[in-house]
Amino acid sequence: MKKTIILTAAVLFSAVCFAQKTSDRPVYLDPNAPVEERVEDALSRMTLEEKVGMTTAQSKFSSRGVPRLGIPEVWHTDGPHGIRPEVLWDEWDQAGWTNDSCTAFPALVNLAATWDKEMSLLYGRSIGEEARYRKKDILLGPGINICRTPLNGRNFEYMGEDPYLAGQMVVPYIQGVQENGVAACVKHYAVNNQEFQRTQSNSVVDDRTLYEIYLPAFKAAVLEGNAWSIMGSYNLYNGQFNCHNKKLLVDILKGEWGFDGVVVSDWGGCRDSEEAILNGLDIEMGTWTNGLRGAASDSYRNYHMADPYLKGLREGKYTTKELDDKCRRILRLIFRTSMRPEPNYGRFVCPEHYQAARDISAAGVVLLKNDNNALPLNVPEGGKILLVGENVVKKMVVGGGSSNLKTAYEVNPLEGLQNAYGDKAEIVWARGYVGDTSTSYNMVDTGQDLTDDRSPKELIAEAVEAAKDADVVIFVGGLNKSAHQDNESTDRQQITLPYGQEDVILALAEVSKKLVVVNISGSAVAMPWAGEVDAIVQGWYGGTESGNALADVLTGKVNPSGRLPFTVPFRYEDGPIKTEAQYPGIKEEGDEYWQTHYSEGVYVGYRWYSSKKIKVQFPFGHGLSYTTFEYANAKADQPEMTAGQTLKVSVDVTNTGATDGAEVVQLYINDVKSTIDRPVKELKNFEKVYLKAGETKTVTFEIDAQDLSYFDADKHEWVAEPGKFKALIGSSSEDIRSTVNFKLN
Ligand code: GLC
Repeated sequence: MKKTIILTAAVLFSAVCFAQKTSDRPVYLDPNAPVEERVEDALSRMTLEEKVGMTTAQSKFSSRGVPRLGIPEVWHTDGPHGIRPEVLWDEWDQAGWTNDSCTAFPALVNLAATWDKEMSLLYGRSIGEEARYRKKDILLGPGINICRTPLNGRNFEYMGEDPYLAGQMVVPYIQGVQENGVAACVKHYAVNNQEFQRTQSNSVVDDRTLYEIYLPAFKAAVLEGNAWSIMGSYNLYNGQFNCHNKKLLVDILKGEWGFDGVVVSDWGGCRDSEEAILNGLDIEMGTWTNGLRGAASDSYRNYHMADPYLKGLREGKYTTKELDDKCRRILRLIFRTSMRPEPNYGRFVCPEHYQAARDISAAGVVLLKNDNNALPLNVPEGGKILLVGENVVKKMVVGGGSSNLKTAYEVNPLEGLQNAYGDKAEIVWARGYVGDTSTSYNMVDTGQDLTDDRSPKELIAEAVEAAKDADVVIFVGGLNKSAHQDNESTDRQQITLPYGQEDVILALAEVSKKLVVVNISGSAVAMPWAGEVDAIVQGWYGGTESGNALADVLTGKVNPSGRLPFTVPFRYEDGPIKTEAQYPGIKEEGDEYWQTHYSEGVYVGYRWYSSKKIKVQFPFGHGLSYTTFEYANAKADQPEMTAGQTLKVSVDVTNTGATDGAEVVQLYINDVKSTIDRPVKELKNFEKVYLKAGETKTVTFEIDAQDLSYFDADKHEWVAEPGKFKALIGSSSEDIRSTVNFKLN
């Protein structure tokens, strides 16, 4: 009995203490308190110095917390395709850690090419787990800048030429990342569509083009994806630097869209104290102030929003209005990430992540052409497969700039096909050409030595000789992650294949029984040789499992279902960019910065080619399958709609082949008669539908007034003009299978 009394008393006492302790615990430290209460409580306890401290970097990839209050510093990490290897505190140099070889996921353009929102969610969840495991709070990605020119060096990091596709594909990625208590940092906001002079270039864009083409994907990221952070871009828009651009950050992002997250500058993108303070920049990173060009003492005090800000506050030049707003946003991000309610720990380089990388990459591989039953490969037992090209063996997860990654391994196409065939076929490789033989990018070593002193003539002769007795020849070429290829801070200098690859392809075409060309690139490559080859595959930088993913498609283990997220024109000149002023921009006498005029307006990508009836090599949305699909019974549920209604358009899609597969049903809207100049079609919906051989499914799209609208810059609002419209339902932007007419009243 006595024991029971003592025990009860002890339990009661500890309960009281616990309750006491909990009630004493400050609100901001209570993980279960509402975020906004935690924000206000923490803010009320911070000194002026601590508030200013939070708004700038303290190292290359971290910004300050509040040590006195136990509020952690914020750790930022590249990038969109995987968790960047650790660098030194204050340098770009590698830290040389041995525990930071990550999973390299496919380049984002590869994800976009899947047109599969489930794949995007899987991607976000997987990379979010890797960021969480590496204890990072902000993932500096995804990038969603529109592919305005195929020459942009960073198209591989983005999601194609159409704002609707980019918007729909980025939302699940963001949600997947943020489920892990890691903030996605959607970049680079905005109209940042070239690398040429990226920190000195002013994008001159009219409002209608801005709202119809360059903002929608960011708007979806904020309003549908609930992105917790956004990265300002290096360039200027209409004369103001974007890391502190009042119109983009204050009026549109935080004003019209009600963004409650954090605006982070690109590294070195902050150029002015007063603008940064007043125009909505929240965290200043990577600024090149004096003393920061090499590791130094805490030169971070020189940042635009560090001592100069403190000085301005003390002199009464600024109130704490903007500062408190910045800190509220940063605290909100901290309470959503490192101090989130339910701690989770992520996962890193696990089999599931490797499998996800492989599945996503394969789902985005695009079969562009497939004649003479070239694919899937049909090599007899003991047959010979000849692989030709540098990209058969070249490591691609290293390079490209800040999205550069260190991985434990990378499966190249040669290894992928060897894995697939084992000893059932002889697999031979011939170099074919020499492209880029760098052994290190951004101080990450490739571990490869690709030097080869043979002449192009010798290399071609070797490949041609080997091709003569091969059952199939697979040329794997394209671009790579070196300067003026798919690479940050430089643009491409041509749209055709570099390194004399065309000569190799044509020489092989002369002697090969069957010739398959796999183009590995992050954006369109002109293919004047397309008629000379049996099959063409648009491959991508597929990440750690790239070679296995490609082999899965080539062997038929995976039925290709990727669709082009950009147009492949016959020639660069066929495109909408006709003048230097449009690209790469001009710098005239007296201009402080380069001026890039987006005078093509909304006529970007297929909007241009379709409206001008210009034939292209392969259109936006194009992709073949190893099976075939038929569309039937396209209809609307009503002949007309009013602005407040939605109209349903449905179509039956049948897999009429012998192989299970997936079709991407695309809905384009055509405004039959409008008072303003509009593209003849605009993508407004899509659905990737998986069909077993012989199976039929009905795909239904809901159309509302927003889908029919254009942006009226004078009224500053979206306008849907009454009248006739067409719903164009297609397998690509140029392969329209059904048209449904309806009216807006
Ligand atoms: C780079 C890139 C940006 C990257 C940042 C940090 O210059 O523009 O995408 O996240 O700096 O490396």
